[in-house]
Amino acid sequence: MNRSTQNLKQDHVIARRIRDITQACSDKLYANVDIPLEDIEIISVVIEEFVDKFHHGKEEQAYFPQTKYKNGFGEDIRKFLIEHELGRRIAKMLLKELKGWKKGGNNLRREPVARFLKSYAVFITDHTEKEDNFFDLVEENHSISDEEDEMLMRHYENCKNNVGGKERIEQMLKLVEYLENREWMKNEL
Ligand SMILES: [Fe+2]
Ligand SMILES: [Fe+2]
Repeated sequence: MNRSTQNLKQDHVIARRIRDITQACSDKLYANVDIPLEDIEIISVVIEEFVDKFHHGKEEQAYFPQTKYKNGFGEDIRKFLIEHELGRRIAKMLLKELKGWKKGGNNLRREPVARFLKSYAVFITDHTEKEDNFFDLVEENHSISDEEDEMLMRHYENCKNNVGGKERIEQMLKLVEYLENREWMKNEL
């Protein structure tokens, strides 16, 4: 498998860990479990920085432009880009409700925050599944040459630097781990 394709598939594994946290957080908010607002803010940060800026950045700036004129992939990619916009809208609405919740200190925002977290979890499940199938198709068709693969990997490095470099990405992964180990994550409903 191309390294550039494998790289995005690996990101999806992390995206789905973020999805599991997001879904659990939503379920627990609906069940009136107390979750520190700071933890939900961290979820919002990893969504924005890891999923949206870093991962979607690599797809939008490198992988998709390189594959969109091959094997009739243009239509698939057009749909993926629309879905990225949908993801961004959900993330933005989540953040807005979260800020309101923090400022107001009342529980009225619990429902919309739970709702947008759930929507984002659904988005990740649906979107990464479709893209994984697309990546398999790219592989089957041998659509990316070795030179292109090299070039894409270099381009990914730029994308990483644009979001704060290796350290920042490592920090994001630590935050994901941190969230996975929170009490509210471990307790069954
Ligand atoms: Fe994507
Ligand atoms: Fe993706």
